[in-house]
Amino acid sequence: MSDQLMDKTMKYSRSLFAEDFSGHDWAHTERVYKIAKNLAQAEGADVLIVSVAALLHDADDRKLFPETWREKANAVSFLHSEGCEPEFIDRVLTIIDEVSFRGTDSVVPTTLEGKCVQDADRLDAMGAIGIARAFTFGGSRSRTMYDPMQNPRSNIDSEAYFASESTTINHFYEKLLLLKDMMNTSAAKEIAAGRHAFMQEFLDEFYAEWEGRL
Ligand code: ADP
Ligand code: NI
Repeated sequence: MSDQLMDKTMKYSRSLFAEDFSGHDWAHTERVYKIAKNLAQAEGADVLIVSVAALLHDADDRKLFPETWREKANAVSFLHSEGCEPEFIDRVLTIIDEVSFRGTDSVVPTTLEGKCVQDADRLDAMGAIGIARAFTFGGSRSRTMYDPMQNPRSNIDSEAYFASESTTINHFYEKLLLLKDMMNTSAAKEIAAGRHAFMQEFLDEFYAEWEGRL
């Protein structure tokens, strides 16, 4: 495994996300990298590709980098500057391309490496961390936490998903509660089951307190 490339990628990614307060901070990328690497080892996937792709998976995120996301300019120029082979760059770009949750337009990654990175990114949107990230994101966009008059929508396509301005609790129904059944690897399916149950419990308690249970 190329330690130098890993080192440089880590530094580059850390610098990109140093200033983020929308739930995409460096700590998110670092957790995704660690989980993805574990999944790669468990699944016998290429650990270097998985690690580099995990570290760069949000480098051209549509919401954070509206100018670069189409061409993935950040990831491409970084990997070029490190002298990576075109074939290696293409493999990383395909993984990044296939990683995102896009409602009913989400894709199953075409490679085992992509499956590990997608599962890791989605696991970090679930459980206690996932709940905290959702409310952080909602706060950063001045979203209402909950409004019983706004019915949640499930199974929406990518345009409706990205255009959604609904409450943070509704985000659970638009994305977070759907993730359990969208995992690719068996190790991730097991972790997802526990994190799903925790979110469900959180919602039950949230509604009970909202309705004034003492
Ligand atoms: P990812 O890093 O998994 O690609 P996203 O870019 O979709 O995540 O979003 C970053 C974080 O913010 C995730 O934890 C996600 O669940 C959360 N998030 C995204 N959209 C919303 C929303 N409309 N309301 C609340 N949280 C959101
Ligand atoms: Ni991410």
